[in-house]
Amino acid sequence: MTSTASATGSPHYPSPVSEQDYRERYRRSIESPEAFWREEAQQLQWMQPPQQVLKGRFGENHSHISWFEDGVLNACVNCVDRHLDTRGDKPAIVWEGDDPSHQRTLTYRQLHDRVGRFANMLRSLGVGRGDTVTLYMPMIPEAAIAMLACARIGAVHSVVFGGFSPEALASRIRDCDARVLITADISQRGGKQIPLKKYVDEALALEGTACIEHVLLVPCGDAPIDWKARDINASELIETHSPECEPEAMGAEDPLFILYTSGSTGAPKGLVHTTGGYLLYTAMTHREIFGLREDDVYWCAADVGWITGHSYVVYGPLANGATTFMFGGIPGGPPDYGRVGRVIDDHGITIFYTSPTAIRAMMGHGEHIMDSSRRDSLRLIGTVGEPINPQAWHWAHDVIGNGQCPIMDTWWQTETGGHMMAPLTDAENFKPGAAMRPFYGVRPALLDDQGNILEGEASGSLVIEGSWPGQARTIRGNHERFEQTYFSVFEGHYFTGDGAHRDADGDFWITGRIDDVLNVSGHRIGTAEIESSLVAHPAISEAAVVGFPHDVKGQGIYAYVTLMQEATASEALRQELVETVRRDIGAFARLDIVQWAPGLPRTRSGKIMRRILRKIAANEVDALGDTSTLTDPGVVDALIENRINR
Ligand code: PRX
Repeated sequence: MTSTASATGSPHYPSPVSEQDYRERYRRSIESPEAFWREEAQQLQWMQPPQQVLKGRFGENHSHISWFEDGVLNACVNCVDRHLDTRGDKPAIVWEGDDPSHQRTLTYRQLHDRVGRFANMLRSLGVGRGDTVTLYMPMIPEAAIAMLACARIGAVHSVVFGGFSPEALASRIRDCDARVLITADISQRGGKQIPLKKYVDEALALEGTACIEHVLLVPCGDAPIDWKARDINASELIETHSPECEPEAMGAEDPLFILYTSGSTGAPKGLVHTTGGYLLYTAMTHREIFGLREDDVYWCAADVGWITGHSYVVYGPLANGATTFMFGGIPGGPPDYGRVGRVIDDHGITIFYTSPTAIRAMMGHGEHIMDSSRRDSLRLIGTVGEPINPQAWHWAHDVIGNGQCPIMDTWWQTETGGHMMAPLTDAENFKPGAAMRPFYGVRPALLDDQGNILEGEASGSLVIEGSWPGQARTIRGNHERFEQTYFSVFEGHYFTGDGAHRDADGDFWITGRIDDVLNVSGHRIGTAEIESSLVAHPAISEAAVVGFPHDVKGQGIYAYVTLMQEATASEALRQELVETVRRDIGAFARLDIVQWAPGLPRTRSGKIMRRILRKIAANEVDALGDTSTLTDPGVVDALIENRINR
């Protein structure tokens, strides 16, 4: 693992931070954390500045982790009002829809107007401090406006990605007891229309969703809308409200939002992020890791339904007074694989933050797709969501970035709120495929299976020692699960669920999940969720789902399925299973391979040996490792013989 950017010629661009500056600042953040964070906190606008910094420690009284606890602020004021004097006419949000002729720009002043009206509209529906509002939205400016409007009045938003199915939406509404749902009639992506309103109606017909009193709908399509009694046309009602809306004074530890994410077991968890620490951390990472400049036009291609959209489309950039570009199409296609380049040219994008999957999708169509654009405004490319393979790194560097842009490979998670690692060093030190260095205040460590700390060059479980301001504080309604999932696997450390390698220079390489969580096109999916969907089918007695290497998606989904005695394997049944999972979770959870498995390999204690199933799925059958603890090794032979990925 020694390849560096110099493989493509010595880089002639600066990195956002030099090796020396990083080392000094990092040392200070670790040696004097209290002073470091107290000073950083001044970057936010407080109604009452905090005296306190961090309270609580992992593994000890963890329930009481808090940052800047006595501080009072409003996240929306920080993202909008604060910029009116100096940046009132600066574009805050620039939007291009799936259809390139759909374009909008909102200056900070115009954003202030829209957010104030939206917030007053929510208040008029009885929504206030502490209430939960679910969003199920396309990538349109109203998604960001609605999030900021919630923040303004102290309501907690829960954004559900528009690709989730009605079942998945319903379970997320039920779990957080939302009072209002904000949605649109359709979401148009890649030339196709997702009927959000139809899905909302289906979701609200399901049990446990009666908590929703109103549906605020932003009309986006041309077709007539099937209005129900609970539905309100948000685009009409908003105009009846004043743009002046008094912001709520929130405690730094008051929840800002809930975001559901998948774990290795059970139903998705509603992670709770709070106001002060989260906002400070996302603003700071956004500014420092991308080396933000006042005239940047910054494009984060993630959907607002994921944490990347929360932290780096909305909160981080707007808290920094940046211009954030929102894109309604599919970055990297289909249908137009070269469009990314033209969007960059048309809007003068300077920073492009995307996923390795999108880069690989473009790469698969050849360099010529970039012939229709110059991309000479770009000065930095960021990646997130999955490990980036060196080939995709070089393609992004050489082709998208014309060899002119540092590639910031940012490693982080829904739980961490913001970036945890990135190549914070001189550009000539960059290593394609390595996120490399912890952000200020972050202390990563590698542990072996027994929980011993590994020193020097090593591979192990990646944990974080000590809290950072952006971390999630709890799982909604289940603090015990929060403690168990993250702080009891290795007592006293935050368990990331990722494996990592630290090389001889001390730089980190994330190797991927070591728990039963899949990363498909950068979308996080629990194998347990897919399995429970499969076993609910009457023909299925058992299912085990694993990931396998996939050229474009990073990981594909491989399901081993055991049928009920009376059921018969068929192509029709296979398709039915694919459809079942799509219905329960969403279209992005597409089973790539279904293998009929008369039996599954088990240990004597009855545990399914997933390690073996992963090897068979990856067609690495010569390296199965120790199979001596299996109850019936014959099961494995049969699975190998009938394996599908050869
Ligand atoms: O496995 C890591 C992978 O994505 C997981 C977190 O997924 P999620 O919570 O959905 O957040 C995605 C966006 C932050 C991690 O546990 N991951 C994320 N970024 C990287 C990564 N793996 C390798 N390199 C990265 N840069």
